[in-house]
Amino acid sequence: MAKIVHRHSKQYANGQWRPACAAFLLLSICILLTGCRGRDSAGDAITIILDPGANSFAVDQQLAREFERETGHAVRLLKAPASSTERLSQYLQYLGAESPDVDVYQVDVIWPATLENHLADLSESFTTETAAFLPALIANNTINGKLLAIPWYVDVPLLYYRDDLLRKYGFQEPPATWDELTTMAAAVQRGERMAGQAALWGFVWQGMAYEGLTCNALEWQVSEGGGRIVAEEGAIEVNTPGARRAFTRAAGWVGSISPPGVTTYAEEECRQMFQSGNAVFMRNWPYAYSLVNGNESPVAGKVRTASLPAGSAGRAAVLGGWQLAVSRYSKNPAAATELVRYMTSRHGQKQEALGASRLPTRLALYDDPDIASEFPFIPTMRHTLDNAVARPSKVVGVDYNEVSTYYYQAVHEILTGQNSADEALSNLDALLRKVLDQ
Ligand code: GLC
Repeated sequence: MAKIVHRHSKQYANGQWRPACAAFLLLSICILLTGCRGRDSAGDAITIILDPGANSFAVDQQLAREFERETGHAVRLLKAPASSTERLSQYLQYLGAESPDVDVYQVDVIWPATLENHLADLSESFTTETAAFLPALIANNTINGKLLAIPWYVDVPLLYYRDDLLRKYGFQEPPATWDELTTMAAAVQRGERMAGQAALWGFVWQGMAYEGLTCNALEWQVSEGGGRIVAEEGAIEVNTPGARRAFTRAAGWVGSISPPGVTTYAEEECRQMFQSGNAVFMRNWPYAYSLVNGNESPVAGKVRTASLPAGSAGRAAVLGGWQLAVSRYSKNPAAATELVRYMTSRHGQKQEALGASRLPTRLALYDDPDIASEFPFIPTMRHTLDNAVARPSKVVGVDYNEVSTYYYQAVHEILTGQNSADEALSNLDALLRKVLDQ
């Protein structure tokens, strides 16, 4: 790795300065010092803003300390809000104000177009190296020829289930379809409650009105052949029979196999409930694996994972994941770029996989024996990644956040019974037409 070291010569001439010369030298030193302050001098601190998750933040800290030792640049780590939706508003405040306070941002896979004008183009710093990454992510992060972010870890959902409980009720395999999941969840929930487990629920998922609901709802919708919100050619696909069927079924889960509060749950609420032993099934991302099967988990050893169940049109898994990007307003762009290189390196990604069950974006790590032995599910995810469904962030560009907000709000109205699927989806269709000028 290129180290950034600046040496300031202290060997002055032998004391025979003339006043003009001295003045010139003084001025030069001033310029040099002003230029260096907050520029790329070794020792300048770089600030990176990251996911607040407990185990991943510890891995991030460890990588940052290694980077400090190697380069002499201090790294300050800030915790971003857990919710992707809140995080985007916070980032937009910093970036909108052209703040130099944060150098490196952890960026959601759906944001490169939205943040285009605020992020540095890294294509000259990462050239042939990009061939080592999942090509779909490099393509996703390239906007108008600019490589705006380097893929750090990728997300696809898993169905987590309590293997012990399924077996207890005679189910040898996880559910293959959403209908089977509904039946199994209801059977286990009924049986366990009769046995005194009053707090047990069948299925938890991300039902709060935020970006996570967009992911869940899109999976339900695509698995019913109900379209992709906005198709690649730009057609709006929300008011469809498949989407109505999918959302009506999910609304039926609320209060039956899923707690009424599920419409306020994000990833961590689900994980905590599942980990405390109060849920049979959970939809969540890979990060939860290391926690629910970790030393401190009451359900460790009882949990297995599977693909999400299929609807009438098959299975669907939404593509998520996070990248690292350098702010255009950074005063230390070269050092910030080196930090991105370090965190997204093979070593950095391997540590993230081993310590926080994050899926690598570097293809070679899917054949890594240490990762396979710590988390055997990780190598098996390659296939799911290749077939994952992208949200329409590339298609609608800067309008994505507005499109997604209208979408999850409409689905949330259906889930909470505030609106019928028919009405919510026809309103949504009209709103999206306005946003997209159709
Ligand atoms: C995960 C995904 C991200 C998604 C978010 C929604 O963090 O990686 O892409 O937007 O969940 O909650």
